[in-house]
Amino acid sequence: MIPDKVPHDDVYRAPQELVKRAHVPNFDKYKELYLKSIQNPDDFWGKIAEDFFWKTPPTGKFLDYNFDVTKGKIYVKCMEGATTNICYNVLDRNVHERSLGDKVAFYWEGNEPGDELTVTYSELLQQVCRFANVLKSLGVKKGDRVSIYMPMVVELVVAMLACARIGAVHSIVFAGFSAESLFDRIMDSQCCILITADGFYRGDKLVSLKVIADDALQKCTDMGVSVQKCIVLKHLSKEEPGSQSPPAKRPCPDLQQERPRENVRKTHPKPQVPWNPEVDLCWHTLVGGASDECEPEWCESEDPLFILYTSGSTGKPKGVLHTVSGYMLYTATTFKLVFDYQSDDVYWCTADIGWITGHSYITYGPMANGATSVLFEGLPTYPDTSRLWEVVDKYQVTKFYTAPTAIRLLMKYGSAPVQKYKRDSLKVLGTVGEPINPEAWLWYYSVVGEKRCPVVDTYWQTETGGHVLTPLPAATPMKPGSATFPFFGVVPAILNESGEELEGPSDGYLVFKQAWPGIMRTVYGNQQRFEATYFQKFPGYYVTGDGCRRDKDGYFWITGRIDDMLNVSGHLLSTAEVESALVEHPAVSEAAVVGRPHPVKGESLYCFVTLRDGVSYTSVLETELKQQVREKIGAIATPDYMQNAPGLPKTRSGKIMRRVLRKIAQNERDLGDVSTLADSSVIEQLFNNRCPTAV
Ligand code: WT7
Repeated sequence: MIPDKVPHDDVYRAPQELVKRAHVPNFDKYKELYLKSIQNPDDFWGKIAEDFFWKTPPTGKFLDYNFDVTKGKIYVKCMEGATTNICYNVLDRNVHERSLGDKVAFYWEGNEPGDELTVTYSELLQQVCRFANVLKSLGVKKGDRVSIYMPMVVELVVAMLACARIGAVHSIVFAGFSAESLFDRIMDSQCCILITADGFYRGDKLVSLKVIADDALQKCTDMGVSVQKCIVLKHLSKEEPGSQSPPAKRPCPDLQQERPRENVRKTHPKPQVPWNPEVDLCWHTLVGGASDECEPEWCESEDPLFILYTSGSTGKPKGVLHTVSGYMLYTATTFKLVFDYQSDDVYWCTADIGWITGHSYITYGPMANGATSVLFEGLPTYPDTSRLWEVVDKYQVTKFYTAPTAIRLLMKYGSAPVQKYKRDSLKVLGTVGEPINPEAWLWYYSVVGEKRCPVVDTYWQTETGGHVLTPLPAATPMKPGSATFPFFGVVPAILNESGEELEGPSDGYLVFKQAWPGIMRTVYGNQQRFEATYFQKFPGYYVTGDGCRRDKDGYFWITGRIDDMLNVSGHLLSTAEVESALVEHPAVSEAAVVGRPHPVKGESLYCFVTLRDGVSYTSVLETELKQQVREKIGAIATPDYMQNAPGLPKTRSGKIMRRVLRKIAQNERDLGDVSTLADSSVIEQLFNNRCPTAV
C-alpha cells in the first residue's frame, strides 16, 4: 500500500533545517508509524490520547465501526465510555496544565490594515466562560442546536467554543450565504437561537449581516417556527444597534473601547441594524453581566459537537455531524504533523471559519496544540494584492495554509507584489480545497516559498473532519499536484465501476476501507441519507465522490469530482442546487448546470435554461436569473455563463446528458458517443446559442 521506496528524482524535498526538528523526519519513519496506526489503532491513538484531559477514561476498543450496509446500520464510535470536553481541552488545559495562559491564541487582523487585536489563551478562556454563561442563562442546554452566522472575528471563536463548553451543538453558517440558505440551515437543524453581528466589510463592500439574518428569521416565522433569541455582536456600529433598541440595563462592558477597529472605519458608512426588542439581544450587554466561571459540561465521546452543512447531489444541503473525542484527536494530530507544528510557530490559515477548514484548522486543531494563529477578516486583494505577504511579515508567520484559487488569483499579478515583502519567516506552505495544478504549485513553491518551504497539498472533505491524503512536510518527497499518501489511520483504495479494488497504477473511485477517528458520524436527522450517499454504491467502503489516479510510484492524484458536484473556488456546489434555484423563476421550465474550467476559480458555473412557452430570452431576464441564484444560495454560486436552451440533450429515458453540455460549454465539437441522444437536432441549436462571453 505505501511504497517501500519513493523516487529520488523529480520530487521536491524539505530542507535539512526543517528535517532536523521535525516530528516525522523521513519516509521510513512515516511508513513505520503508518503501519502501526493501521495494525494497532488502539495503541497508536491511545498514546496520543494521553496528552488530553479525560474526565473518565474509555472503557472499550478505541474504534468500533461498520462500513458495510449489507451487515446492518453504518456507525462509527471512538473511545466509548470516555467523557471529556473539547473546550476544556483547547482552553483550560492550555491555561491550567500547560502554562500557556499568556500565550497569544489569536492575532486578529481586520479587513482594514491597522485593525488588529491580540487575544491570549487566558483571555479567550474568560470570554468563552462568560458567553457560555450567557447561553445557559438564555436556556440553552446540552444537545440544543445554536446557529452562528458571523464574520471572521474573535467572537466567532468565542461563540463556537462556548457552545462546545456547555455541550450545545454549533451550526455555523458561512457569512457569505444568503438569507434563504441560512433559513434552510436553521430549519433543518431546528436551532433555538441565532448568533450574528451587525455587519462587516469585505474589501470595500459593506455586508449588512443583521438585515440578512432578519430576513432568514422572518422566513422561519412564516413557516411557523420561531427562533427564540438572536444575539447581535456590534462589530461595526458603535452606538446601540437600532434606534428602538432598549436602553442597556447596565453599561456595556468596555471590552469594546480598547478596540482600534472601531475607529478605523469612522468615515465609512455603518451597517443598517434593524432591531426587534422581542427577539434581539446585544452581545456586549449580555456578557457584561456574566460570570467568568463556567464548569464545562462533561460530554460522552460520541456526543455531537457540531453540524456543518455541505452541498449534496440532490440539491438539499446535508448536515454533516461530527462528535467530540474522535474529532478532537484527529484535528489535533493532523495539525501537529501535517504542518509540523512547533511551539514557536505563528500559523495562519486564510480560510473562513464558516467552512470545515476553519473549524478544524483555525479553531480546534491549532488550539488543541496551544498554537498562536492569525485570524484574518480580510481579502487577499484588499487594499492591494500584497496583503497576504504584508500580514506574513507583520506577524512573522511560519506556517501558511491557503486555497489553490487564491494562489491562482495572486499568480495573475506576477511576483512583484509578493517580493515587496520578505517572507523569510515562512517554513511550511499548505493548500486545500481542490486539486492544485502543477503550475500554481510551482509558483507557490518558488515565488512565495523561495524553494525553501515544502508545500503540503492536503486532500480532505467536510465529511472526513481532517486531512486524509497529505504529505508530511519533512517526510514525504513531493510531486506538484499530488496529495501523495494517506495520513495515519486512513486506508484508501481505488475501485473500478464494478467495485473491484485496483492495484498498482490505476484510475477510478477514491474510497476508504476503515474508519478513522475524525470521520463524520451521520447526516443530522437523516441516517438513511448518510448511508445512501457514502456507503451504498460500494458496500464495505466510504465513497468520497472523487476520482483518483495512482501513479507508478504509488502517489495519489485527485482528479476531481465524479458525481454531480462542482467545485467553485474550493467550495462545493451541487448542480441540482443551482438548477432548482433557476427553475423557481416563473420564466424557466427547465435548467441544466455544468462546470466549465476557469483559470482562477477552478470551475465556473455554466447554465442552460429552457424557458416557458411564450417567454423570450433577454439580457434583463438573464441578469434576473443570475440574481435569483445569488439570492437563493449566495454570491459563491453566481452563474458566470448562461444561455438559452430551447431543447436539452437527453437520452431516450429523459436523462440530461451533462457530458454533452460540458463540451458545449467549452465549445468543444468532439462530443464523443452521442448514439443514446433522443433528438440530435438540439446540439446544433445549443452551439449556436452559446453564451458569447464564454469564448
Ligand atoms: C472536496 C471537499 C476540505 C476542506 C475544503 C473543502 C476537493 C479538497 C483537495 C485537494 C484535490 C481537493 C475534493 C473534495 N478537495 N481538497 N487537496 N486536492 N481536491 O471541503 O467543501 O467538503 O469539499 O474538495 O473534491 O471531495 P468540502
